[in-house]
Amino acid sequence: MCNAHTVDVDTGEQFAQVMLSALNGGSLAVMISIGHQTGLFEALAEVQHATSHELAARAGLNERYVREWLGALVCARVVEVDATSTQYSLPPAHRPFLTKQGGSDNMAGFTQYVAMFGRVEQGILNCFRRGGGLDYDAFERFHDIMAEDSGQSVLTSLFDHILPLADGLVDRLQAGIDVLDLGCGRGLALLEMAERYPRSRFTGYDLCEAPIAEATEAARQKALSNVRFEQLDAEKLALADSFDFIATFDAIHDQARPDVVLRNIHTALRPNGCYLMQDIDASSHVRDNIEHPLGTFLYTISTMHCMTVSLARGGLGLGTMWGRQQALKMLHAAGFSRITEHVLPHDQQNRYYVLNK
Ligand SMILES: C[S@@+](CC[C@H](N)C(=O)[O-])C[C@H]1O[C@@H](n2cnc3c(N)ncnc32)[C@H](O)[C@@H]1O
Repeated sequence: MCNAHTVDVDTGEQFAQVMLSALNGGSLAVMISIGHQTGLFEALAEVQHATSHELAARAGLNERYVREWLGALVCARVVEVDATSTQYSLPPAHRPFLTKQGGSDNMAGFTQYVAMFGRVEQGILNCFRRGGGLDYDAFERFHDIMAEDSGQSVLTSLFDHILPLADGLVDRLQAGIDVLDLGCGRGLALLEMAERYPRSRFTGYDLCEAPIAEATEAARQKALSNVRFEQLDAEKLALADSFDFIATFDAIHDQARPDVVLRNIHTALRPNGCYLMQDIDASSHVRDNIEHPLGTFLYTISTMHCMTVSLARGGLGLGTMWGRQQALKMLHAAGFSRITEHVLPHDQQNRYYVLNK
């Protein structure tokens, strides 16, 4: 009898099922990514049932490809087909998880990460052999997918659940304060806040040029004069006592030097300032993550993106699953001592750390 954790895939037959599920599940993720980007799920949800020709016409797509896609989705039991194998339908119970009607329950967009992994696989293989990493510019669609991801996990609950986590923050935003979003990507959260709190001043910094250009253009189109975006490496943030509120959304674990960035954040905060760090909720010990509902996916996204972008810059390569214990250690080392932690029901993949200076 051994004391090691026993997994329930200990017979060859059971493990064969794991392998079959991997092949079918990986394939299904790519097909869902395609269904999401082509609008096929939305088109299918709008009708009771449709033939492949009707569905292709509705979505403006090639029928032969749509029919093969439907085949994969039927075998995965995502889509149903009638006895004549011609009429397809999306069961109402599946719709919230695949279409906009589900709001934050819609998981279809996340499958785009799986498709992104395939595009960088050869580069990552080289990293396995030689070390180092792939930089942000190796990831063609990363900022598109990320903006969609945070559009769901952050924007849907920013005003009702996230900002109220910090005592008195909403009142201060209404009165007028200086706010920084570090690693802001396309700046969706800042744009929403700038619109909602016209008396406050908002700054967004990101390492990458493309999302900053998009965020700047979005601010111009919305005619917002209280928000500015700039390409800046957070490691070089050399501002002291400059902001009342600093936020990072999913932007610490993939830093090259998260230790330096956290210290810079502490220095940049004014006395009584507040730092809100949203980052992946996990344990720093892999064994504790076995039951994590997204464990395999998150270690994979780490290998294929978050860890590698850090290593590409000679960084620590913390990885997506750096975990709560490591996060608290680094936050303490950066000078934060007053910390409260929250997990929100709609976003159980993330932990929200509220830190007061
Ligand atoms: C996982 S994305 C999150 C983006 C955004 N906060 C959101 O929630 O959509 C991490 C972001 O951090 C940025 N980033 C990484 N290292 C950075 C650095 N040293 N300085 C500034 N931004 C950085 C990346 O370019 C990327 O946009």
